[in-house]
Amino acid sequence: MEAVRAAEEYVKETRGDGARWLETPEAQLVDTLSGLGLQAGAIDEVLMHYGSLQSHPLFGPLVGGMIERLVRDREHLDEPIPIWPDFDEWGDVGRLWWIYVFALATPSLIECHRRRGLPEPTIRRTLSALQRHVDIHYRKWGTLGVDAGWWMIPLLRGELVHVGSLQFHRLHLGVSTLAPDPWFSEEESFTLGPGFRRGDEAWGIHIPDGADLTRGALDATFEEARETLSRAWPARTRRVATLQSWMMDPRLASLVGGDSRIVNFQRRFHLTARWGEDVDNVVEFVFREPASHLRGLVARTRVQAAVLQVLRSGDAWRDGVGWMDFDAPSVH
Ligand SMILES: CC(C)(COP(=O)(O)OP(=O)(O)OC[C@H]1O[C@@H](n2cnc3c(N)ncnc32)[C@H](O)[C@@H]1OP(=O)(O)O)[C@@H](O)C(=O)NCCC(=O)NCCS
Repeated sequence: MEAVRAAEEYVKETRGDGARWLETPEAQLVDTLSGLGLQAGAIDEVLMHYGSLQSHPLFGPLVGGMIERLVRDREHLDEPIPIWPDFDEWGDVGRLWWIYVFALATPSLIECHRRRGLPEPTIRRTLSALQRHVDIHYRKWGTLGVDAGWWMIPLLRGELVHVGSLQFHRLHLGVSTLAPDPWFSEEESFTLGPGFRRGDEAWGIHIPDGADLTRGALDATFEEARETLSRAWPARTRRVATLQSWMMDPRLASLVGGDSRIVNFQRRFHLTARWGEDVDNVVEFVFREPASHLRGLVARTRVQAAVLQVLRSGDAWRDGVGWMDFDAPSVH
């Protein structure tokens, strides 16, 4: 209830202009959904509830207002990114609302990326997020929906791009919602220089479900990302790519072993002595279960065993913060 109210609040300035998005003809919606890789059965289900969405007193304005706000906020990296739970318990349109938002906003996102000169394969890969989050929803609940739908916000605002194995998110250090936290103190970042200071631009790296973290795939990813992303968004005060994740717990190497792809990925970064304490995220990403199920979880892999060992000892997991040189700033 609270999250739905927060969503209404989030779109209060844009809901008035949002109605136009719900006038999208069914044929165009089908076209976009099949381009996004949804199966015929899923598309039928989305279509079946489209009429109810259009006349729904809560979710109609929410979907329209959300798309309008996402479009308004493009290039505004410091607009907040709210992290809401999914609205699955709000009936079919609540379960499907991110699919409507995603599909109806996709054509304008594609235009926006094309104007930036992003290559078509990069645009397609970026849009693959919908199907991936739909797959996770099926795995967890056996129904059509979008797991962690809020994640679509930076993507649909055009600031999150998928290159090779990884997603890259444009952000301002110390300011944007998903900037690494904790980051260096003001004094430390001044010593480190341009590219580390509050407000400097950076790429926040994210690891999609099932990402190929082999050495070759990552080498190719970073090479392509440097070229593609710096052409689309030339560096001014940007120098680093950052990563804050459960995968950056400094204890992982000793817990899981040096042959782990995650551990080797971690080694590409300068690991700071900073982290956020975490239980919920790591249990979600490693077990796809809520942390409240911790007691009954059974480890089937080395990473799962490591997580259970730490959490059951009463300690928290550490979402470590790391950085790597990505591109050189041209304006200081
Ligand atoms: C990215 C990902 C594919 C990496 O997996 P990987 O390449 O197998 O990584 P490793 O080589 O380090 O794995 C070592 C072991 O841990 C297991 N493992 C790795 N990530 C795991 C995860 N998220 N859940 C459960 N087990 C995992 C592997 O299956 C392997 O098991 P085994 O050797 O006991 O059979 C996987 O972690 C994933 O899909 N994660 C979800 C996305 C995510 O967490 N993003 C970060 C958000 S902050």
